[in-house]
Amino acid sequence: MCHWLKNCSSSFIQRKKRNKMKSLSSTQLRQIRTKFRLSKQHVELPEVSLIADKSSTALFNVAGMQPLIPYLLGKQHPKGTRLFDIQKCIRTVDIAEVGDASHLTFFEMMGNWSLGDYFKKEAVQRSWEFLTQWLEIDPRKLAITVFAGDETAPRDEETANYRKEVWLPPEKVSYLPEENNRWSPGPVGPCGPDTEIYYRVGASEFPPAESNVQNDEDNRLEIWNNVFMEYYRDENGQLTKLSKQNVDTGMGFERMCCVLQQKASVYDTDLFEKTLQVIVQTLQLSLPFSPAQQRRVRIIADHARTAFMLINDGLVPSNVGAGYVLRMIIRRMVYNVMLLHPLQLEAYADVLHELLASFQGLRTFDEKEIIRVFTDEVKLFQKTLQTGKKMLEEMLNELAQTWTSAGILQGENVFKLYDTYGFPVELTKEIAQERGVNIDETGFQQALEQAKETSRQATKEMFKKGIDWSKYLEGIPQTEFIGYTTLTSDEPRLLKEIDLEDQKVLIFDKTPFYPEMGGQLGDNGEITLSNGEVKKVHTVQKFAGVILHFISA
Ligand code: ALA
Repeated sequence: MCHWLKNCSSSFIQRKKRNKMKSLSSTQLRQIRTKFRLSKQHVELPEVSLIADKSSTALFNVAGMQPLIPYLLGKQHPKGTRLFDIQKCIRTVDIAEVGDASHLTFFEMMGNWSLGDYFKKEAVQRSWEFLTQWLEIDPRKLAITVFAGDETAPRDEETANYRKEVWLPPEKVSYLPEENNRWSPGPVGPCGPDTEIYYRVGASEFPPAESNVQNDEDNRLEIWNNVFMEYYRDENGQLTKLSKQNVDTGMGFERMCCVLQQKASVYDTDLFEKTLQVIVQTLQLSLPFSPAQQRRVRIIADHARTAFMLINDGLVPSNVGAGYVLRMIIRRMVYNVMLLHPLQLEAYADVLHELLASFQGLRTFDEKEIIRVFTDEVKLFQKTLQTGKKMLEEMLNELAQTWTSAGILQGENVFKLYDTYGFPVELTKEIAQERGVNIDETGFQQALEQAKETSRQATKEMFKKGIDWSKYLEGIPQTEFIGYTTLTSDEPRLLKEIDLEDQKVLIFDKTPFYPEMGGQLGDNGEITLSNGEVKKVHTVQKFAGVILHFISA
């Protein structure tokens, strides 16, 4: 007789036992999941860098499958056909959502793969077994989505049926279109219909029986995606069948911690517990937080973690590519700190040291290097902000003296701060609001668009006129292009500044900016001048080996 029958005789007691989901720490979750995958004959893969290798069109590793693309396309993997790992990833597409209950820019993905080995049936059975038996999640809290089908691929009734076989009632299955239920790492590459598993969060112990992803999405958290990678999508969007039917799955580690520790957000799990304490102490915050403060604290925690991980993988802030994203992440963190509790530059090293210590369990960090790179960037940003802030104060004082437009900071002024000093719109908004002034965000967007268009046209005109660059470039050596190794922090030397009507051209001894060539667009980005001014580079051209950076005058 099995254990539970010996102790109980009614189904009610059995159900009570089931409801008690395991409360697992993040370390325990890693362990149990490894044990599960090994028990299913999967081989563990080592983690790869967050920074995508040069053969990839992506800047970062965005999913566990990224290093496996050649194998999903048919190449034989030296470790076999069943693989698993836990891989660090960066996704910045949802950066505006960071600070809510579930979004992060850095996260870890628990992935497992079948390279032409098991397919839909086993993938469904095993994900169910892991969630409901190994982790003891009550199935009544789960719901799934499957692909609804379109002219290129059929409705995925097969997966829906396997789901129903393992337990799930039909009303828990939502059939959704391509944008929800076909997954691919980019516009071109391996792809396939997917089935996503959602957990019901929220106050009520059990969701209403009819709750599913389609009618109750706001209360549901996606925890695991299983992709059936059997297609290749080409440049024209055409799907062709791959030689093998693969399975690619990704389970959000932080989200699973949130579910298993029964917390309201990923920031309330043991992964961020110490970090939030550090932020409260070092920024001298008092509890409870207002919703706005809570969001800022979470952004600081997330962005600090992301920046630490990226610098640890060798990235440095720069004006292009991945380095530019890192720059934006650090700056976004710094202005959120500023808005909670302004810090002097000297105080940053201590705060960063404490924050880093709060993540010590995560990886081995090169603390000295991380703090050096981070504080250098803070220094640069603070310089920019100081100059910008003076200008903003003047604008606000002027506004206070006028009657007609009192209360609204014009879009063109917000744009001027942004364009000249790299002043984040959010920061302008906050500072203005402290003085009872709103900003004209639509006007800002219009000014931004207009400036881009004007610059584009002006450059086109100039090239049409056929400027004789040789007269400007006498004695200027060819520019060293450092964009392939990109991410260097070396200070370039400004060799020449050329004034051309309403534009300027800057020439440096070296540059990471790739020039426009052979129909391929050049890079965009920013140049921070030694006086702290930030200039947007809208066009990059090359003449006789010299790279020309166009900025608005
Ligand atoms: N590669 C899939 C994803 O990232 C599993 O969602």
